[in-house]
Amino acid sequence: MPMPVYTFLEEFDLFGKTIAPFCTHEGSGPGHSVADSKRACPKSNVIEGLAVRGGDVKNAQDSVAGWLREIRMRTKK
Ligand SMILES: Cc1cc2nc3c(=O)[nH]c(=O)nc-3n(C[C@H](O)[C@H](O)[C@H](O)COP(=O)(O)O)c2cc1C
Repeated sequence: MPMPVYTFLEEFDLFGKTIAPFCTHEGSGPGHSVADSKRACPKSNVIEGLAVRGGDVKNAQDSVAGWLREIRMRTKK
């Protein structure tokens, strides 16, 4: 996970908040990001994330929309 993201997670009070991690990658998937987010924010609800391959981003609209539906976030069309 990039250091600016660590800083964000550590600097803000995310007590009781839900964190939905998402990233692009080129083969490593989410790596340790979800576990590291849980460690950095033990009092937050870190839910299932989404990792999209950078080269597939142009075609990822359906998987992003599906993930948002799964986590029950509404998208505007
Ligand atoms: C310095 C650096 C190292 C990276 N190392 C990896 C890596 O080892 N494995 C991986 O899946 N993604 C890695 N990435 C991320 C991908 O390069 C990136 O998410 C993907 O190409 C999409 O790029 P974009 O989000 O800028 O469009 C790295 C990125 C940077 C900046």
